[in-house]
Amino acid sequence: MALDTLDISVLAAIVVALIVFFTKGSLWGTSNSGNSTTVSSSGSRDLIEVLNENNKKALVIYGSQTGTAEDYAHKYAKEFQARFGIPTMCIDMSDFDYDNLPEVFDQVSGFKLITFFMATYGEGEPTDNAVDFFECVDNELTDLNGLKFSCFGLGNSTYEFYNAMGKRLTQTLLEKNATMVGELGLGDDGAGSMDEDYLAWKDGLFDLLKDSLNLEEKEVSYEPSLKVTEVSDLTIEDKQVALGEPNAKYTLRAC
Ligand SMILES: Cc1cc2nc3c(=O)[nH]c(=O)nc-3n(C[C@H](O)[C@H](O)[C@H](O)COP(=O)(O)O)c2cc1C
Ligand SMILES: *[C@@H]1O[C@H](CO)[C@@H](O)[C@H](O)[C@H]1NC(C)=O
Ligand SMILES: *[C@@H]1O[C@H](CO)[C@@H](O)[C@H](O)[C@H]1NC(C)=O
Ligand SMILES: *[C@@H]1O[C@H](CO)[C@@H](O)[C@H](O)[C@H]1NC(C)=O
Repeated sequence: MALDTLDISVLAAIVVALIVFFTKGSLWGTSNSGNSTTVSSSGSRDLIEVLNENNKKALVIYGSQTGTAEDYAHKYAKEFQARFGIPTMCIDMSDFDYDNLPEVFDQVSGFKLITFFMATYGEGEPTDNAVDFFECVDNELTDLNGLKFSCFGLGNSTYEFYNAMGKRLTQTLLEKNATMVGELGLGDDGAGSMDEDYLAWKDGLFDLLKDSLNLEEKEVSYEPSLKVTEVSDLTIEDKQVALGEPNAKYTLRAC
């Protein structure tokens, strides 16, 4: 029995589908080599492994309780990456282990800088997601020679221990011979000046970074995360064109 064209195309489609299915992830898709500053979690808590997997050369780490430090960290990471063209990863402090923090600059080739965004709670206490980090840095890490960091603290000056976590982090890392780039930023919710404090700190830091890290500033260009393609042969009457009405594809589907 001879195969007709239909059989052949059906077979070809099946073969292609199988190839896509079995190579998915090995040929594309799993490693986030794009420009996103957040990486899809591979479940690994090994900082160096994830930096290398995702080809990232700078790190932004936030200690945040209600999301303010997190928001600033993401904003900063995107701008840092866009300005200097350095692939940057922005992470929740509690998502990784820090026992190999001292080796990051040796084992991630071309690695540039770690920036911390640290909020303060209680009587000058860390956010919940920063407790284990301090535990590790205080008790397990001794020599941070070669580690370059910068830090922006978020606090409220009406509290007695104003920005205690930014200050504690800075002091601890410096005591262990890490190198600080720029000054400790002090963001103050109490004075309502968080934005101004952030911008002043960031502008000062970026100026410094150009010299101290030999970073070339790039023209900041808008980098869209979606691509818009015009399909000129569709009209408003076409079934495929959505005008905001509920989509049967989703509304009729059984959960
Ligand atoms: C219950 C509570 C306790 C706080 N304690 C302090 C403090 O001791 N020192 C300080 O500088 N800021 C303190 N703050 C201010 C926060 O650090 C500040 O609002 C910060 O922007 C919050 O960041 P986050 O949203 O990332 O958690 C406190 C805020 C709250 C709500
Ligand atoms: C990613 O960033 C690089 C350098 O910043 C840029 O050249 C490239 O076009 C960007 N890629 C995408 C998909 O946005
Ligand atoms: C930091 O560096 C100084 C000078 O090089 C050295 O004497 C000291 O032991 C170092 N401290 C730590 C904790 O490595
Ligand atoms: C700063 O702290 C004071 C005193 O607790 C509080 O009244 C104020 O709302 C806080 N400001 C912000 C922006 O959280």
